[in-house]
This record gives sequence, C-alpha cells and structure tokens, in this order.
Amino acid sequence: MSTPQTDLAIWNIESVDPDKALQIRAMREQVQTDPETFWLEQAKRLDWAKFPTVGNRSTFEDDVSIRWYEDGKLNVSVNCLDRHLKERGDQTALIWQGNDPGVSRQLTFRELHAEVCRVANALKSLGVKRGDRVAIHLPMTVEVVACMLACARIGAVHVVLFGGFSPEGIGERLIDSGAVAVITCDAAKRGAKTIAHKSVIDAALKHSGSIGSVKNVIVVNVSDTSAPMTPGRDHSYAELVSGQSDACEPEIMNAEDVFFLLYTSGSTGKPKAIVHTTGGYLLWAAYTVDVTFPAERGTTHWCTADVAWITGHTFVVYGPLANGTTTLLFEGLMGWPQAGRWWDIIDRFNVSSFFTAPTAIRALMRDGDDLPRQYSLASLRRLGSAGEPISPDAWLWYYEVIGQKKCPVIDMWWQTETAGPMLSAIAGAQQLKPGWATTGIPGIFPSLTNDKGEIIENREAEGCLCFDESWPGQTRSIWGDHKRFRETYFTFSKGRYFSGDGARRDADGNLMITGRMDDVINVSGHRIGTAEIEDAVATDHSVAEAAAVGINHDLKGQGIVVFVVARSTRTLPSEAHLSKVISERVGRYATPERVYLVSELPKTRSGKIVRRLLRKIASNETDNLGDLSSLADTSIVPTLITLVQKQL
Ligand code: WT7
Repeated sequence: MSTPQTDLAIWNIESVDPDKALQIRAMREQVQTDPETFWLEQAKRLDWAKFPTVGNRSTFEDDVSIRWYEDGKLNVSVNCLDRHLKERGDQTALIWQGNDPGVSRQLTFRELHAEVCRVANALKSLGVKRGDRVAIHLPMTVEVVACMLACARIGAVHVVLFGGFSPEGIGERLIDSGAVAVITCDAAKRGAKTIAHKSVIDAALKHSGSIGSVKNVIVVNVSDTSAPMTPGRDHSYAELVSGQSDACEPEIMNAEDVFFLLYTSGSTGKPKAIVHTTGGYLLWAAYTVDVTFPAERGTTHWCTADVAWITGHTFVVYGPLANGTTTLLFEGLMGWPQAGRWWDIIDRFNVSSFFTAPTAIRALMRDGDDLPRQYSLASLRRLGSAGEPISPDAWLWYYEVIGQKKCPVIDMWWQTETAGPMLSAIAGAQQLKPGWATTGIPGIFPSLTNDKGEIIENREAEGCLCFDESWPGQTRSIWGDHKRFRETYFTFSKGRYFSGDGARRDADGNLMITGRMDDVINVSGHRIGTAEIEDAVATDHSVAEAAAVGINHDLKGQGIVVFVVARSTRTLPSEAHLSKVISERVGRYATPERVYLVSELPKTRSGKIVRRLLRKIASNETDNLGDLSSLADTSIVPTLITLVQKQL
C-alpha cells in the first residue's frame, strides 16, 4: 500500500453540501452567541415529563459542579421506546445477529417495549428500587439491551461490566458501586468458544465478600450450559421475566438523577466509575448520533462496540433508539466462522451507518481487498471510527475498499467521560482529513494548552487537549470520589476540562489526536492504567516492584510491556507466570506482549520510576533517550537495552 500524503487532493475527499454547511454554521454561531437558547432548543429532541426552563448551570471553578436542564423531568426508556410506538411501533428497533450465522432475531419498538416492561417488573419483584445499582454482565444479546432499558424504566442505575474482567476486577466494582443485583448469563458464545460468565460472578461474589450488597443474581440462558444456582439468591431470567406484565409505569426522573455508572481506567490503580445523569446524557446521545452519524429511515445503524463500553451505551443503545433508528447487535466475532462475516451482515441487514474501531480496521485490512469486494456493501452511507487514532493508511483503506469512495469516513474523538463524540467532522458540512478528528462539533469548544496548562493562542500548535465549556453529556463526577474527579480533570488548566490527550492543530483549526499524555495505555481501544497492571503483578509474592509501559503495536495500536523486579534473586518468577497473573487479575485484554525481569528500575533521585525511558527502551528507540540527568543511577540503562534487544 502506498503511503498517503495528507495533501489537498485527499483533504477534499468529501464534497460539501452548501445547505448542510450553512445549517451547521448557523448552529455554531448560535451556540457561540446564545448558548442557553441553543441548548434549550436542542432539549426539544427529547420528550420530557416536565420541560426544563434552564440549560447549562455548570462551573469548572471551586468544587466543580456540572448541571444541565436541572428542573427537567423525564424517563429514558420512554424516550427510546414509548414515544416511538404511535408512529413506528411496528418498525424494527433491534436486530440481533447471533454468533451462529443461522440465528438472528428482530424486535419491533413494540416488542422491545414489552420485553423491557417485563424485565422492569421482574426487577421490581426482587425489590430493586429507584437509585439502586444493578450490575449487568452480559454478552451482546437482546437481553443486555432489555436489561439496560429496564433499569432506566424503574430509575435503577445500571453498571454494565465487561465480560473480559477478571473475578477480582468484577468483585472490586461490585463493592465500589454497591450493586444490589447482578444480571449475568450461563456462558457467552464467542466464535467456537464458550466463555464462562456465571462462574466468574460466583467467584467475584465469593472473592469480594460483596454478597452483602448483592441480594440477587439473575441468569440468562445464552449457551444452554448448566450453571450452578444458589437457592434464594440466583434466579433464571426466563422464569422470572416470562410471567411478568408487559406494562410498567415509567419512573419519572429528575434530569440530574444518576442514570448509569461506567468503569474506566485512570492513572491510579483503582478503577473509577464515571457518573452520567439522566437528562444531559440522553440529550447528548440523541444529539451526537443525529448530528454526526444519522441513519436514514428503514436502514440500519451498526456500531460494533461492545455494550460494556461507552461507545456501546451511546452508539449501540441510547443514541440510535432515542432517534427511532434500527440498531444492530452482533454477538459474534468478525472472523468466525470465516473472514468476511461483517460484510455479510452489512449486506444482509441493509446497514447504512457502520461504526467500528481502528484496531478492527487494521485487522480487516490484513484479510486483503478481495474479500470485501465479494460483497455488495451498497447500503453503506457513512463509516465511523473511534477509540484510538486512525492512521491515514487505515482511513484510506476504509474509505476506498469498504466505503467504495462514496461514504465519508468520520473519525470521532470521545471518551467515557464525554459520553459521546466531541471532535468530529460533520459529513457534508466540512471537509475530511484522513487521520484527523478535525473540529469540535457544534457546542464544543476545544483548546490546546502547554504542559503547564496555559492556553496556546497560535493556530498551528501541539499541546494538551482541553475543553473550555461544559456540554450536556459531560460526566458529573467519579462515583464516591468527587475530589479525585476535580483533581483529575480540572486542576491541570484552570477553568477547563483536561482530557488527558495530546493533540496537534493545523492552520485551519483541525485537530489530530497524538495519544494519551498520562499513564494510560490504549490496547485495541481498551483503556488500561499502568498502575492497574503494576498493582496486579505486585500481588504475586515473588515481585518487589514493577513498571508497565505502552509500545506501538501493528494490530492493537498499543501493546503492554512490563518490567519486573523480583523480591529475591534466588526464586525468580517465570515471565509466563507473571503474564498470567496480569491476565487473571485485570482481564485477558490486558495480557502483556512481554515481561522482562530486571534487577532494578530506572528512577529519579526522588524515587519516581521513569516510564518515559522504559517506553523508549521497550520500543527499541534507543537513538534518542532524552535527558537522563534526573536519573539517580544511569548505569542500569545499558543493561536494560541489552536485555530488551536480546529478546526482540
Ligand atoms: C480515549 C478514551 C470512542 C470512545 C470510546 C473510548 C482515545 C478515542 C479517539 C479518536 C484518537 C481516540 C483517546 C481518549 N480515543 N477516540 N477518534 N482518535 N484517539 O473511550 O475508553 O474512555 O477512551 O480513547 O485517547 O482519551 P475510552
């Protein structure tokens, strides 16, 4: 593949529609001059039990308080289901394609509404109330969507947990969130494998002793395997739900009531639950999907993200359904039972909006161009990418081979904390630039600062990506730790939200993300804190200390490398064993590429591990190691370099 230049020829790929450009410009102008009116007008996208009279009441100063539409009242499930019943009750809301190519299911808005009500009533029958936390640990099934919306119906706070988390990881999150119930399944189907779920929950509950708060476990039968049930605590989903009424009065929530918690990684070992609230989140999901990634009526929106990530919450479930769009959920893997599975699904279900992550695009590129060319892909209208930087190479391949040069590739930058896209080109209204997330969407005001948090006025610059104003989908806090929230995001640059990412800005004001600036590694679009890995490996009694760094990886974007110092030179742990400790404690997705046993770690005189240096050594970029003057002892550097080079 030739190396693309990001020159003007490629820049102009997307033709601009003057009407659309005008409309978006008008939105930008209004939100600049009269944000309150703009945001109250946007609130009309939702059905409110009480329409809000106030828009933004946030401040990034002092203790930091983010509040939107605070006197509004609404219910999320009503917005995703009930309000569509009259006009499009018989339209498909959810297409579920099973792991097995022969198995799929479609539910209309009416059918999904009925299932959601039954699950909501089932939860109520177990005593789950408004404000209670309910953990959901399910694969990509109809039930995961029904359970999320059922929590929304009764005002319970869902906490969706990724299937790849270890029992320890789950236990920790159950304790932190104080979940009263867990919804899981026997086992998940992933290609030819079945992956245990119920036994992971059993182990998590035993391990954490969190049985204190978790009173009930609901088990969906996904794989027809028998899961041991604890009488009194465990219930079969089918038995519990099938007898329930398909009507359930929605709980009317305040706009600022907590809607869900979602765990993500930060730069300390303790996972943090990002708090999103009802009105602002749902408005942001509805707004961003419609503005950046609309689907034509009668066509299908497909975002391949797992529902356990923010992308799944916003781009699989809430955004499309709030807009009355058919959303597709795929249980299986892209390459099973054979390569080309995704392309088959696009053709079969008339997918018009297709959204995935660069890590998947890179893997698909490896299958070659001939494979996708065997499919029509004619229904596609737009392609999305998010989760990590997309290289111009991958962008162009996606554009040419999948989009057949007729679909814009929309690179969107967002985070768990932002709830939805923040930087994204608006197709039709502005030009695209491969590898660049381009500009803030209407209502978003990005800025760059230097590493002291001072604003950079120059157009062409590189710096730290911040946002000057709040937006409705902004996270309100870290669950139970508002101090950590304030310190993580609002102390770096006074009066701004700091994203943790670096970015470059061109002369036209477009932004390109350069990657995380903190101790967070992005493996295949999964955020993992270096401290999480280091804490995990340090639980092994043979380990004295450890340092984890991210290195470039062709497929995953970044891979993990860990340097470990053993407690004693007499009993050295094996590298394979330490790798297993990490994958067991954090999750399979955190399995390191390499573990090196070293005699000591490079440290500053004040005792801080110099990860920047380790990253360079692990990447074999030893030509320019940077300033080593802060190191307490430089003699260790050549030893580390030799060790790494020996194993490359
Ligand atoms: C981090 C957030 C789509 C949101 C799901 C991930 C990186 C996200 C892009 C992009 C370059 C990106 C950032 C960000 N990221 N989108 N389009 N280009 N980098 O949510 O797990 O909270 O991760 O993902 O580094 O901070 P998340």
